[in-house]
Amino acid sequence: MSIVDLALQEPLLDGSREMRAIQSVVASVADTDATVLIRGESGVGKDVIARTIHVASARRDHPFVKVNCAAIPTGLLESEFFGHERGAFTGAHRRKLGQFELAHRGTIYLDEVGDLPLALQAKLLHVLQDLRFCRVGGHGMVDVDVRVIAATNGNLEGAMAQGQFRQDLYYRLNVVDIRVPPLRERTEEIPLLASTMLARFNRQYRRAKELSPETMARLTDYSWPGNVRELENVMRRLVVLADGEQAFEALVAQDRNGHASASRAPADTLKDVARRAAGDAERRIIEEVLERVHWNRAEAARFLKVSYKTLLNKIAEHRLAPPSHAR
Ligand SMILES: Nc1ncnc2c1ncn2[C@@H]1O[C@H](COP(=O)(O)OP(=O)(O)O)[C@@H](O)[C@H]1O
Ligand SMILES: [Mg+2]
Repeated sequence: MSIVDLALQEPLLDGSREMRAIQSVVASVADTDATVLIRGESGVGKDVIARTIHVASARRDHPFVKVNCAAIPTGLLESEFFGHERGAFTGAHRRKLGQFELAHRGTIYLDEVGDLPLALQAKLLHVLQDLRFCRVGGHGMVDVDVRVIAATNGNLEGAMAQGQFRQDLYYRLNVVDIRVPPLRERTEEIPLLASTMLARFNRQYRRAKELSPETMARLTDYSWPGNVRELENVMRRLVVLADGEQAFEALVAQDRNGHASASRAPADTLKDVARRAAGDAERRIIEEVLERVHWNRAEAARFLKVSYKTLLNKIAEHRLAPPSHAR
């Protein structure tokens, strides 16, 4: 989404007490160059908040550059961040500017910063302190004027305790800490978000869909594990699909059964729960990486730092399969 779209769409940042608190932090830090760390589950609106800060700052006429730290293979990260000179490595046919240089005078948004490998965390810390760096294969230093906003949906303190995230970088990033609660903890926003989205999708798809009061009520009941992003998808489907409302009913029913069976189930041992959660997390990560590298298993194995054979075993164990077009 471009900044223009965002300006037109006016994200809702005052629909609940929690978001009003965030809105006031945004307003008070926008015009400073303070580094901001935004945390929250996937889909809660971290990108939206980062862009809002940029647009409200004096940097608004300069670039807003988003870098998804988790989506870039480790070997390419440094060059992606800081650029490279021609001939810096095989395949570097010409000089390429990195995202830090492209963000000059604007804002750089480091998404999923918790996924940065340790070696790059050290480099990033230096750049944040000095606002100067060297392109890969370059000699001179490049100075940049950037404001840094970082985001993560992970637990940086946990990662720090395990030695996976540098403490010094953590303190450098965590100057202003914004925690965005999941949508299920700010349900009072749902009716307004939903009706705004309904109007937007009706315009976009030239429909005149209305929602029954029952559906409206259920929107607030549902647990929204995918947060505002999921709400947006559901609203889009409600507008576009003839059976959108039934599809949503099914989702809600499943959600309810999930909760019901969880509370009815005989007490699991803590170990069972932990084992299952770890397995789920592993499956999700493997799946994500495979998607990112278009099911190039060798690359995925490198990325995950496991042997090719281990990866194949894990794929079998979790019954993962490529989407049909990637086979
Ligand atoms: N407060 C909000 N008002 C309107 N739309 C929102 C709001 N928060 C999130 N969204 C929408 O939900 C989707 C997910 O938001 P995003 O900022 O990408 O979440 P995150 O970065 O936390 O995963 C986006 O399409 C965004 O436009
Ligand atoms: Mg995001």
